[in-house]
Amino acid sequence: MSVCCPLIRVARAEANRLFVRRRKPRLPAPSITLRASFEAMDSFEVNKILGAILGTCLGILAINIAAGAIFAPEKLAKPGYEAAVPEQAPSGTPAEQEKQQPIEQLLANADMKRGENSAKKCQACHTFNKGGRNLVGPNLWGVVGRPRASEAGFNYSAAMKAKGGNWTIEELNQFITNPRGSIPGTNMTFAGISRGSERADVIAYLNSLSDNPAPLPKAAEAAGGAKPQ
Ligand code: HEC
Repeated sequence: MSVCCPLIRVARAEANRLFVRRRKPRLPAPSITLRASFEAMDSFEVNKILGAILGTCLGILAINIAAGAIFAPEKLAKPGYEAAVPEQAPSGTPAEQEKQQPIEQLLANADMKRGENSAKKCQACHTFNKGGRNLVGPNLWGVVGRPRASEAGFNYSAAMKAKGGNWTIEELNQFITNPRGSIPGTNMTFAGISRGSERADVIAYLNSLSDNPAPLPKAAEAAGGAKPQ
């Protein structure tokens, strides 16, 4: 134990001092009575030093055990390293639980009218009417089920064009939650709607923007649990 080293050094110095004194008792020139008591003290003092060393070592041992008890690392259920990474990577906002609820379940209580109201947030950049103009963003009439990046005359980002596929309800849900997280590189500089129920309202509204809207996914399917994706 390296902590003991200074103690050993002190002990050695002390022993040295005693030894030197014994060899050259004339230097400090103690009186005869003093010298006699010094001889008597000799072994007593060595005992004290050894006692001190032993005591210190025991003390360190005790501290070690106590510290081990206080700072004991939690036992892992499985052997391995514990990585301090949150399980849900793109999160951090409140309304966390609603966010994880499947959109089909949320759509069960969605309201088109509320959605139309919420969609005012989008109107800075989007029109919703049939044949509406493209603004900063493309017109969104009939966007549910339509191929991505397909609005004629709109200059989509490379990221959006590269993504391909159709706008399913699930993908719209992800995109509106966090546009730039869902399609990195998109030009849609909109923070996203974190509240699941509000997104469901907006999606219900978007779904209605069609000559013959497809029925929304049924809540019963979602509640059943084993719904096909
Ligand atoms: C600040 C402007 C802005 C706001 C606000 C905005 N968007 Fe967008 N949106 C864009 C832009 C720009 C694009 C094109 C993105 C690209 O090309 O990467 C886009 C693209 C989209 C697309 C893909 C359309 C397609 O044809 O592929 C959808 C869907 C969409 N937005 C929905 C919404 C909804 C819903 C809202 C409101 C909740 C919203 N946006 C709010 C700018 C905006």
